[in-house]
Amino acid sequence: MYYDAIENRHNLKHDPFKALVTPRPIGWISSLSSDGVLNLAPYSFFNAVSDKPHYVMFVSSGRKDSIYNVEDTGEFTCSLSTWDTLDGMNISSATVPADADEFQLAGLETSPSNFVAPPRVKNAPAALECKLWRTLEMPDVETGSESGHFVVFGQVVGIYIDDAYIKDGIVDTGAMRPIARMGYMDYTVVNPDTMFTLNRPVVAEDGTVSNTSAEKWDGTYA
Ligand SMILES: Cc1cc2nc3c(=O)[nH]c(=O)nc-3n(C[C@H](O)[C@H](O)[C@H](O)COP(=O)(O)O)c2cc1C
Repeated sequence: MYYDAIENRHNLKHDPFKALVTPRPIGWISSLSSDGVLNLAPYSFFNAVSDKPHYVMFVSSGRKDSIYNVEDTGEFTCSLSTWDTLDGMNISSATVPADADEFQLAGLETSPSNFVAPPRVKNAPAALECKLWRTLEMPDVETGSESGHFVVFGQVVGIYIDDAYIKDGIVDTGAMRPIARMGYMDYTVVNPDTMFTLNRPVVAEDGTVSNTSAEKWDGTYA
């Protein structure tokens, strides 16, 4: 099949777009309102967008509590969503009034951040502490009309990693078992069995392309 994505007449049961951009990491965003009410919610329109400096983004489909808080206070954290906190992540997505604390709702404990005011999820093996750069509303490129979808860009100013997951100077991401969003109501989980190593290709002077090796990477670019 092939279709005009602006008209979006796919004739399927559900828009397949999110089933095609997959798996998407889940940024578990904590923020504080200007009144000090704590907020937590998962966002799968989330990713790292730069590593020098470290930047992440998440997208709010409509203006939700997280974006209001981040715009008011300029700070947020992204805790890593993993298999061990799956239920808490899901419960924290519930639509509740702005004065509700989803940490309490989901029975999750907080841990203080070092560089920003919102705390992180205590049981998350890693978290990013972020300062807002800017929010952008994405337009329809042809008509320029507003979409109500806002990208929030934040610079990462502090990084927490549970030392238990650092082995020989390398983070053991598979052992953290991060979960990620697929299409529909589907998710996937990363674990050591679903990971593999692929080193960068090397092109010889005669144009022959070879992969260096499938050995575990030692942490330095050759
Ligand atoms: C795994 C998962 C991913 C989600 N991703 C997004 C997202 O990228 N953007 C969005 O607007 N809502 C997303 N949602 C829904 C929000 O989490 C939900 O609307 C939540 O109530 C927003 O909370 P807030 O108002 O406290 O920010 C997601 C929900 C789940 C369970």
